[in-house]
Amino acid sequence: MSFTFQNFPADRDTLRSDVLAGLATSPKAIPPKYFYDEPGCRLFEAICAQPEYVLCRTEQALMNTRVSDIAAAIGPVECIIEPGAGDCAKVRLLLDTLRPAHLVAMDIAGAPLAVAAKGLSRDYPDLAVTALGMDFIHDLEAAAPYLPTADRRLIYYPGSSIGNFPPDAATALLARFRQLAGTAGQLLIGFDLKKDPQRLHAAYNDAAGVTAAFNLNLLARLNRELGADFDLARFRHYAFYNPVAGRIEMHLVSLAEQDVKVAGQRFHFALGETLHTEHSYKFRCDEFSTIAKNAGWRLTAEWQQDGFAVQLYG
Ligand code: AVJ
Repeated sequence: MSFTFQNFPADRDTLRSDVLAGLATSPKAIPPKYFYDEPGCRLFEAICAQPEYVLCRTEQALMNTRVSDIAAAIGPVECIIEPGAGDCAKVRLLLDTLRPAHLVAMDIAGAPLAVAAKGLSRDYPDLAVTALGMDFIHDLEAAAPYLPTADRRLIYYPGSSIGNFPPDAATALLARFRQLAGTAGQLLIGFDLKKDPQRLHAAYNDAAGVTAAFNLNLLARLNRELGADFDLARFRHYAFYNPVAGRIEMHLVSLAEQDVKVAGQRFHFALGETLHTEHSYKFRCDEFSTIAKNAGWRLTAEWQQDGFAVQLYG
């Protein structure tokens, strides 16, 4: 069994500078990657268990039913690379089926990743596991020295994580994946499809209020880590599907005129002013393959189930 964990620090400074920069823009905005501190990771797992948020369960069902097809389309693989691996639960199915020699798992939440990846390496004694605690959106190229010199690399990017990026940024990220994968590399990617806007709306407005808690936890995190003084009762979780842009937008809307201190600086919120926290784009299959083609990928296969799609590129 081999297990390596490498943490790329500098976290608090980038959080601070990204947040200060985001609060100085109009509209105010904070990148969604900052949702995922430890309470945020737990809240995201709780979202996935809500009856309205079928995204994770649908992808899992698709993967489970089609895995032999998918494995046959992929062929032999030496190394799986998973950006945003989280609790490393999803990749197990591919490890069981493709039996690669290496797994390189990356996540911005380094500590939980290390625990999950270590557990994985216990369960797969023949697998060499490398866990990289890093902001791969910022730093993907820093992973290159940790990759084994294997030609047959598969980048696995499930869960509609790509939906957080507007089309141009999605193209740019997929082009960097192409570089990392190499010319013999492949990409297996899962994304949420356009569907009845009422279903989409419900998924981001669950009755139990878990998505609201997840969104507001961002403010709680800034209070904890940047000494901010957000009053969570004076911000409203507000999420809706924008059919023109083809995305869910998540906001925290100020319920009052108020000043907030963040990292020693004061920011003014007008009544009704929004802090934008997330875009979650929804695609049609052809829209998505255009994005991937522009990033240098060629579509080899695709699977769909209940409003979710998985595509394979080479
Ligand atoms: C992890 C980015 C796929 O956009 O659906 C869930 C995050 N935000 N509920 C998504 C999220 C609110 C999720 N992704």
